[in-house]
Amino acid sequence: MAAARARAVHLLRLLQRAACQCPSHSHTYSQAPGLSPSGKTTDYAFEMAVSTIRYGAGVTKEVGMDLQNMGAKNVCLMTDKNLSQLPPVQTAMDSLVKNGINFKVYDHVRVEPTDTSFMEAIEFAKKGAFDAFLAVGGGSTIDTCKAANLYSSSPDSDFLDYVNAPIGKGKPVTVPLKPLIAVPTTSGTGSETTGVAIFDYEHLKVKTGIASRAVKPTLGLIDPLHTLHMPGRVVANSGFDVLCHALESYTALPYHMRSPCPSSPITRPAYQGSNPISDIWAVHALRIVAKYLKRAVRNHDDLEARSNMHLASAFAGIGFGNAGVHLCHGMSYPISGLVKTYKAKDYNVDHPLVPHGLSVVLTSPAVFTFTSQMFPERHLKVAEILGADTRTARRPDAGPVLADTLRKFLFDLDVDDGLAAIGYSKADIPALVKGTLPQERVTKLAPRPQSEEDLSALFEASMKLY
Ligand SMILES: NC(=O)c1ccc[n+]([C@@H]2O[C@H](COP(=O)([O-])OP(=O)(O)OC[C@H]3O[C@@H](n4cnc5c(N)ncnc54)[C@H](O)[C@@H]3O)[C@@H](O)[C@H]2O)c1
Ligand SMILES: [Zn+2]
Repeated sequence: MAAARARAVHLLRLLQRAACQCPSHSHTYSQAPGLSPSGKTTDYAFEMAVSTIRYGAGVTKEVGMDLQNMGAKNVCLMTDKNLSQLPPVQTAMDSLVKNGINFKVYDHVRVEPTDTSFMEAIEFAKKGAFDAFLAVGGGSTIDTCKAANLYSSSPDSDFLDYVNAPIGKGKPVTVPLKPLIAVPTTSGTGSETTGVAIFDYEHLKVKTGIASRAVKPTLGLIDPLHTLHMPGRVVANSGFDVLCHALESYTALPYHMRSPCPSSPITRPAYQGSNPISDIWAVHALRIVAKYLKRAVRNHDDLEARSNMHLASAFAGIGFGNAGVHLCHGMSYPISGLVKTYKAKDYNVDHPLVPHGLSVVLTSPAVFTFTSQMFPERHLKVAEILGADTRTARRPDAGPVLADTLRKFLFDLDVDDGLAAIGYSKADIPALVKGTLPQERVTKLAPRPQSEEDLSALFEASMKLY
């Protein structure tokens, strides 16, 4: 009798929990619009936009046929100086030649592009009157090519027209773009799947970008053979980008808690908040990172590990490209933009540079300690995937458990010991905070709102990691 009553009480509790739409109690989401804390109506729908992707060892040799099938007669191939000397670009050019495609090479892509470097590429694209684009490289190359395609297709637009508000005007893209094929050579940004192009806005010394489904590549050719050429630190840093894309998109504010609700589908942002489909990709990408990233960094010829990371980058891209990212990315933009003299190992460039993946991961222990109050189950789940023993962990432990797991992961991969190790001190915190404030497009997707004092505290807590 007592057992039956206990079971009835247990079932009742389960039902109550299932009825609760709070993402920390339920893994399903309400489809109904709700009222945000500010009283504005929140969104009720989300959209998944993804490039067509094709995966396979050696698949780059098909690119000439793809362009021929698209009817391309005059192609712009974009890459960076370093890659222009390496096999990925050679393989792509061989395929174009073999298939009789006319093309011009633009190899002045800047690693971690700026508005100036974007504009140089746009000028090249405008003059060339190209009918298709091919990007062979990492996120820097693919993003530059997206911008070149957009502005050469919309030649009368001002550069800031399509740049994210509040830095730019954030206008929706209504012009038709040319086909763009992206061949990613790093395992990080997932840019081959997303409608996002990031650059450093030199005037403000912060990164910002263009975010529109219209700029996503027509086709992504994911060829794992290219990853064998990547130096160890490029594998590590681009892998941290995958890690943070997955962690941030999975813990982002759910789409139905984001406001305002768009008045037309064209104004629904690319970054919409966590949602059940992005969650699947984020969790899957994270499992791959947990299993393969260390192997991929340490062994140049571990094709299994490097191929899996190449796929994980696309998986996380499908997730975050629609859900968005939040604080690690929002805070990373001034960390890269305000770089002083830091020179990243294994990056063959002539300017100081904090690689994107490094700039996002250094704040991750502090950020997830801060955000864990909101959706602790989600934070515990990702900690478990990354190897933490969470069997006895309680909800208030979620932040510290995930932060410790991340610190250990970073320590094992020889990551610099916090922002201090890459040249920042306490005196830089006001500028770092100032550079984060305009990043509302992503910071507002954090599950927990943050004040300027919170941001200062997060930067301070990230000065030293170990
Ligand atoms: N569009 C998006 O969705 C998105 C998402 C995240 C980051 N980003 C942006 O992407 C940029 C970073 O891109 P990334 O991390 O892919 O690196 P990257 O394109 O900046 O390249 C880093 C370095 O690695 C070299 N390299 C790349 N592939 C190589 C290979 N296979 N073999 C040897 N060397 C190789 C490059 O020449 C370069 O020196 C940043 O500007 C970042 O803000 C964009
Ligand atoms: Zn990123």
